[in-house]
Amino acid sequence: MTKRLHVTSYGCQMNVRDGEEVAGLLMREGYALAPSPDEADVILFNTCSVREHAEDRVWSNVGALKTLKASRPELIIGILGCMAQAHQETIFRRMPHVDFVAGPASLYDVPELIETIQEERRPQLAVARRRRPEFQQVSYHASGVSAFVTIMEGCDKFCTYCIIPFTRGREVSRPAEQVVAEVEEVVRQGFKEVMLLGQNVNSYGRRRLSGAPTTFPQLLRRVNAVPGLERIRFITSHPHDADDAMVAAMRDAEHVCEHLHLPVQSGSDAVLARMRRDYTAADYLAKVAALRRAVPEVALSTDIIVGFPGETEEDFEATRRLLETVRFDSAFMFNYSPRPMAKASQWENDVPPEVKDRRLQALLALQETIGRERDRAWLGRTVEVLAEGPSPKNPADWTGRARDNRHVVFPGGLELTGQLVRVRVHEIRGHTLVGTVMG
Ligand code: 5AD
Ligand code: SF4
Repeated sequence: MTKRLHVTSYGCQMNVRDGEEVAGLLMREGYALAPSPDEADVILFNTCSVREHAEDRVWSNVGALKTLKASRPELIIGILGCMAQAHQETIFRRMPHVDFVAGPASLYDVPELIETIQEERRPQLAVARRRRPEFQQVSYHASGVSAFVTIMEGCDKFCTYCIIPFTRGREVSRPAEQVVAEVEEVVRQGFKEVMLLGQNVNSYGRRRLSGAPTTFPQLLRRVNAVPGLERIRFITSHPHDADDAMVAAMRDAEHVCEHLHLPVQSGSDAVLARMRRDYTAADYLAKVAALRRAVPEVALSTDIIVGFPGETEEDFEATRRLLETVRFDSAFMFNYSPRPMAKASQWENDVPPEVKDRRLQALLALQETIGRERDRAWLGRTVEVLAEGPSPKNPADWTGRARDNRHVVFPGGLELTGQLVRVRVHEIRGHTLVGTVMG
């Protein structure tokens, strides 16, 4: 009988891609995807440690499987990803119904781990510190519209708030030839868009296992030349490493979308220094200005951390001013959450929760106003949209993304999914552009 698999991925796009890779490897071994965990023989949680809240969700979802496991002892439950690396064997103590724990560097060992458990019925721990010996070419992609392609793994930055260098290990880049081959493969499968993934894509190529030296801007230009590919996105860029060559590649490579996610984290130089971000607010503004000169219609998104240790009212005001100055199209904002192993977790978490919340709410409200003002610039214009599928709210409506990453809704039909359409925008509804398809 075919074994059935269910994978839930939390966190960043890189993690989502890891989840697809594990699913793809197991499908090669004959597994089929189960529609829900209840119907699966193997249940995998591909986890995120970036904030405590992300971990809490996983603890409670894994905890909820205790009775299912008691009723079906042959069921295999695995914890993958950043929490696996961060918590290791303590996961078995807290959740004795978990069969195996495998960190990001042990991703490709999962099929073997499952076999070992089936034979020996003993819990397995795989939390290699070594980076992956090689990247595999896994052709399975869960989305039918935009294909995630990992170009590098790990992070060397050691921002003082961040757990990622400890969970995902040192940076290593995938050979450019392999990246291009995977992009060619997904284009053959019918994808029109790829999303190139790395914790810090701008340091792509610095540490390689093999292959000729290639920088990120060079990689963008090579991927841009893949016949049949319409759109290229990439995430995440670090402001210190995002350079003029990247800006030039974004300007010149016609398939690179007019969107940059450039996490600023704070507008205060004192806080940025303590975060060990290696740039000042002025450096950041200069990069944004250079990008906007080269790509005038570029949409910008960012990440902000509120209430980092020592953040004063003045520091917070500097962040507010930076949001007002840059006028991002969107921003992901979070209260600071101390993370084990990260340097700042040794410092006093001294901004009281109610102050964090007040600051966060103020920034969210400000960004809401700015974001909607920027949306209104699109009224009456025609945008290129990659159609994704029916809108969850109204199945007669189709959703998709404009090149600048804005959500667009329009009357559609199945034949449009995966296609590029031109949509004339006549309304802004919430965070969505609403329009009609032009013939
Ligand atoms: N607390 C709050 N937010 C964090 N991020 C990373 N680490 C933390 C933390 N300890 C945020 C950063 C990063 C995004 C992915 O998550 O803003 O850019
Ligand atoms: Fe979460 Fe960071 Fe791990 Fe991605 S790399 S899953 S954001 S902790």
